[in-house]
Amino acid sequence: MKNSRENGESSIMKRLAIHGGIPVRSEKSFPAWPVFGHEERARLMEVFESGKWWYGEKVKEFEEKYAAFHDAKYSVTCTNGTAALETALLACGIGAGDEVIVPPYTFIATASAVLKANAIPVFADIEPDTCNLDPEDVERKITDKTRAIIPVHLGGLPVDMDAFCELAKKYNLVLIEDACHSWGSKWQDKGTGAIGDCGVFSFQMSKNITSGEGGILLTDNGDIADRARSYTDCGRIKGGAWYEHYFFGSNLRMTELQAGILLGQLERLEEQTLKRERNAAYLGELLQDIPGIGLMRRDPRVTRRSYHMYIFRFLSEQWPGVSRDRFLEALRAEGIPCSSGYPKPLYKNHLYQQMGEGAASCPVTCPYHGRTVDYGNVMCPNTELICREACWIPHTVLLAEEPDMKDIAEAIKKIWEHRKELSDA
Ligand SMILES: Cc1ncc(COP(=O)(O)O)c(C=O)c1O
Repeated sequence: MKNSRENGESSIMKRLAIHGGIPVRSEKSFPAWPVFGHEERARLMEVFESGKWWYGEKVKEFEEKYAAFHDAKYSVTCTNGTAALETALLACGIGAGDEVIVPPYTFIATASAVLKANAIPVFADIEPDTCNLDPEDVERKITDKTRAIIPVHLGGLPVDMDAFCELAKKYNLVLIEDACHSWGSKWQDKGTGAIGDCGVFSFQMSKNITSGEGGILLTDNGDIADRARSYTDCGRIKGGAWYEHYFFGSNLRMTELQAGILLGQLERLEEQTLKRERNAAYLGELLQDIPGIGLMRRDPRVTRRSYHMYIFRFLSEQWPGVSRDRFLEALRAEGIPCSSGYPKPLYKNHLYQQMGEGAASCPVTCPYHGRTVDYGNVMCPNTELICREACWIPHTVLLAEEPDMKDIAEAIKKIWEHRKELSDA
């Protein structure tokens, strides 16, 4: 027979942490980010001591190594992923009056880079079981003004590149991969980023390989690479004089200090990518039998994937009276880092809502486009659903060990079993 103290303890153990119970994880934390050490420090100090901090040998070394890591022929580094997207659009000749199809479930840069090129972002919906751009909806959104598509390998999960390459070929469109989450991901054994015309990556602080800020464009097309290099280097050309500017350009160069850190980070990337993938697969096995949770689908043609975040769905219909945000609050209380991700489709942001009919600024009133753009009428139901139901677990969690994955599943199961106590009402 248990005594009353033991009974009390076991009831606290069982109670949800959000209601004063003992959290599934109270003593161990998940790995911190970024992971760094000798690899980065040695190279950074080498650059520092050399006094050569401006674009040079380390940047070139990183460009070569990163391109090789992604099976790409050419690479051009720059200041960040946003700049890389803007460079990609310019290098591919996208400009005023052109329509570019983008997903609304992504970071703002995917679409704002299109505006920066004076072109018009057109939103197509995502697939609810991958959170990636849906090629069928993209095809429905193609008009005689469409010039490019920018699919995002969201969270590191490659989009259906076969379908997008086919669409690009059929309609003569430029295909730019937003690979800002997919360092190391492969589609049919080829690295993401240069399967389309070009692709771009971010090395911002939260990313799986980071130098605080930084970006790169990859391509197998020498002309795109030359134009991108020129654009990021004030319109100069290879072999041209220093004060000769052949094209419109900007200064978006990466520094040697950033490249030094990135070379160190790159040494860790493969092993970390494989570890996250192993842990994610195990977590998926543990979560698949828990009701109320929807897992993402992985296409068998994805031969390796990075995880910028592990996404699963909170299937609202199976949790009457409990909101996704309350569920996440309870999960955090159990010691599991998580968030709700993008809160709304990009087109619902003020930026787009204020560009309705009558807006007087380019590109929405662009004479080259000659049509009215009203983002107030845009509706992508799958994106709206995912914004309500997505749960994100950050990539750092997947750098922990197998027993830590068990804790995540145990915490979710515990919340499911206590769901009636969690009602928002
Ligand atoms: C999908 C996506 N595209 C582009 C970017 C822009 O990258 P950066 O922050 O380096 O400008 C980000 C950054 O979070 C991103 O998540």
